[in-house]
Amino acid sequence: MSTTATPTIGVFDSGFGGLTVLRALIRRMPAARYIFLGDTARLPYGSKSQRTIARYAAESARFLVDEQKAEFLVIACNTASALALDAIEQAVPVPVLGVIEPGAAAARAASQSGDVLVVATEATVHSHAYAAACQARGLRALEKACPLLVPLVEEGWTEHPVTVEVIEIYLNELRAEAAAAGLKPDTLVLGCTHYPLLRPLFERAVRSGVKVIDSAESAAAAAVELLGDRATAASSGLVAETRVRCFATDSVEKFERLGSRFLDRSVGRVELVDLGG
Ligand code: DGL
Repeated sequence: MSTTATPTIGVFDSGFGGLTVLRALIRRMPAARYIFLGDTARLPYGSKSQRTIARYAAESARFLVDEQKAEFLVIACNTASALALDAIEQAVPVPVLGVIEPGAAAARAASQSGDVLVVATEATVHSHAYAAACQARGLRALEKACPLLVPLVEEGWTEHPVTVEVIEIYLNELRAEAAAAGLKPDTLVLGCTHYPLLRPLFERAVRSGVKVIDSAESAAAAAVELLGDRATAASSGLVAETRVRCFATDSVEKFERLGSRFLDRSVGRVELVDLGG
């Protein structure tokens, strides 16, 4: 692998929420070539078992590396990062970056009190991957599953009063649990790649002084660091249009319709791929 050639980066999510990570990657490395896969046929991962998530994620990673020739993988899905990173690393012979460690590192940098809150899917919370990554950095983390949020985002209700209310309820519960545990949280980690779309609502709902961490941004920053010289080669400002190819395992039309909101630009034509059941 040449050290200065622009890289082909595979970006994987269970759906199209991971496009928020792709958006952050493109901002930092517009000259890289990107292959995005959303496993929309098997979404949500957040309510499934570790075994199933690992199988789905490994198959998706093989598609990106074996068939699409990705040289570096970003797992733009908190659930797959929390429960399937080992399985993915065993499935493909390229470097793999998940979003949990960068998210926890950003929380460490942001928190003064050492107490952080994490909102994520059921599976991510049950894995306690964030709690472990935070603890390794001297932080205390309280995690909460917010299973209603992914369907609300999938519905496009990113400004809807119902979503505002649901976030308020979840945060009130989390604040009560934090108070009962004697924590003084000053940082909230959005531990699901759908949630950056709700970031303005979270920022309005948290108490003043609480910082909101978006694991999409911290993962993109970690990817730049890991890619070293190749990231520098891909950071060139002289790019007419970033090369992005999007694949989905189902709901291609919905992906094309809603995906541009996540990516902040058109996702173009999304190609259908069959990875089996
Ligand atoms: N992409 C998942 C995550 O970041 C959310 C959607 C799902 O449950 O599959 O955790």
